[in-house]
Amino acid sequence: MKINNKMEEAINKQVNAELYSAYLYLGMSARCSELNLKGMANWFYVQAQEEMTHAMKFYRFILERSGSARLPGIEGVRSDWKNPLEMFAAAYEHEQKVTALINNLMDIATAERDHASASMLNWFIDEQVEEEANASEITEKLKLVGESREGLFMLDKELSTRVFVDSTQPAGKAQP
Ligand code: FEO
Repeated sequence: MKINNKMEEAINKQVNAELYSAYLYLGMSARCSELNLKGMANWFYVQAQEEMTHAMKFYRFILERSGSARLPGIEGVRSDWKNPLEMFAAAYEHEQKVTALINNLMDIATAERDHASASMLNWFIDEQVEEEANASEITEKLKLVGESREGLFMLDKELSTRVFVDSTQPAGKAQP
């Protein structure tokens, strides 16, 4: 069934919000590189890639439901982050805002009795639990590390191991 106008508009906005998230994290990755924190730069780079896949999942859904994908401009992001704690705390705060956006989408899907959208959004509701937990955990570790250079080095090393996996796709299927 063709997606209705209200749901189409709301999901279009979410495509933009996910692309903004990618931009935000790419900016943080760049800042970590400048600070010579290559592991954290890697973590944010992988996070930016994940956000792209979230945007594409919403984008593909609009087209699958015979809707129109509109692509307005993406807002710029700040680049003057002082330290990793500031970045990860902001990432955690941002993910909580994204969770609220996803919950709002689910409210619309429920009100519109759009079960296909609700089913698709369930994936994002689960994903947001992980997104918040990841950013929160690293923020808390950074608080523990405090001013310790050794602690920061160890955490940076830990975050260098993160690799990108497209969890929006069944294993082995490439994105169109
Ligand atoms: Fe697309 Fe970080 O949520």
